[in-house]
Amino acid sequence: MIKTYNDFFTDELLIKIHQHLDSPMSIWINQRSNGTENENTFGMYEVSHIEFFNTELVKYINTKLDSSFLLERVYFNRQDTNQDGSFHQDTEFGYTFLSYLNVDYQECWGGKTIFKIDDETDEVIPYYNKSVLFKGNIFHKGMSFKAEDVPKRISLAFKFIPKEVRLTKEEVKKMVVKISEENTTEVDPDTVNVKLDYDSGTEVVTKTGDDSPSDTEKMTMELMPIKELVFAKINFHPDIVEEINSYIDDEIIPNNKSNANKLVGQYSQDERSAQLVFDFESDVGQLLKGILDNVATAYLQQGYERDARAITEQCWTNHGYAGDYNPYHDHPYMGVYPSGHMCTAGLSGFLWLKVPECIRVLDDKPDTITGSNGKINGFTHLAWGHNTIHDLKKLKFTTEKYLKPKEGELWIFPNWLKHQVYPFFGEGERRSLAMNWGVYDSEKELKKYMNEDQIKAFDDRQNEIENKSE
Ligand SMILES: [Fe+2]
Ligand SMILES: [Fe+2]
Repeated sequence: MIKTYNDFFTDELLIKIHQHLDSPMSIWINQRSNGTENENTFGMYEVSHIEFFNTELVKYINTKLDSSFLLERVYFNRQDTNQDGSFHQDTEFGYTFLSYLNVDYQECWGGKTIFKIDDETDEVIPYYNKSVLFKGNIFHKGMSFKAEDVPKRISLAFKFIPKEVRLTKEEVKKMVVKISEENTTEVDPDTVNVKLDYDSGTEVVTKTGDDSPSDTEKMTMELMPIKELVFAKINFHPDIVEEINSYIDDEIIPNNKSNANKLVGQYSQDERSAQLVFDFESDVGQLLKGILDNVATAYLQQGYERDARAITEQCWTNHGYAGDYNPYHDHPYMGVYPSGHMCTAGLSGFLWLKVPECIRVLDDKPDTITGSNGKINGFTHLAWGHNTIHDLKKLKFTTEKYLKPKEGELWIFPNWLKHQVYPFFGEGERRSLAMNWGVYDSEKELKKYMNEDQIKAFDDRQNEIENKSE
């Protein structure tokens, strides 16, 4: 099922869509279209948490299509010129609704969406404000723009789930439930948001379909994974990594302002082993703080639907050499409101800046660490529980994760998360930057957990403070 619609959104809605698209608050995350060998990247700006997209636009689409879709997520795609996507499926039984947003689009630019059903192909030309609705299990790819001096190809993608999934008895018998490996978000797929799909290969019937099975044959099933924790992984451009490293080499190391008395790290095996204060006063510091504040705020809003801002409070370097390690620990709370109250939530993170060859050559995900094979030397270990191997057999999920350090990768997580760094034994420096953020809730977010009396007391206090400052 592939349906197209010309001039889909009203001018009023288009203006609002472009306001979000051009906003300095838009945060684009680079993604790969599919698989590993395909090196093409495209940018993604998640807007699932914004009411205009998750409510107003969804309502508009459902009204226009006479459908009753529920939203799974919505985001902008930004595709580089000359970087074609590759064939993939979006979902097993959902629907994708794509709207093309290049205002001055001309057909000679190319950039079609190509669909493949059996051996037939179908194409949609991305005219401005044209939209296409298709079943998520149809193979498709987005081609890039190919003319000189053309903009990036922009589209807005809605991932919909039908309100009801109806299967016949025969289909239920054939149904195999599998864990999807589809990378649906910028977050690592095996840690959060484990997504369960029906492997039914059957027509999913919703109000948009027309040949639903009779009522007596219907069964419904819903799967509800519960989230434990959200990580963010951000890839820094190598130029920024280089700039930070030069700044550390030229300023931070010569200044030699140790932060070790506040930290549990055991960095002492080499004369260059150290943990040093990294302040935000320099241009590089300012640049980095801006990025860190923005990505961590996006993490809170998109990962936790938290109406809050993250402010980087503290940052330090870790210079690890053979034998150095960082024992199992968590981080203290950071951040104080102007009223003097501590923030109730905090974030922590690390950015890997140098990885020695002896760690670099290790497998990303070692199959085993028996036989003293050293396959997690220099890895970071994260743990959010103490589930054992027996728990896994009893249908509980794993509560830990090993990360092989990679230059330019920043990980963000709540500050209560326990973590440690294993020692490595070889030449070179394992360098990282660690940081803590305060989580500053909006007034709306703070009031979510207050009863009437507490809200009144809060408002009175606010008024008092305001009156004083006048
Ligand atoms: Fe897609
Ligand atoms: Fe730490």
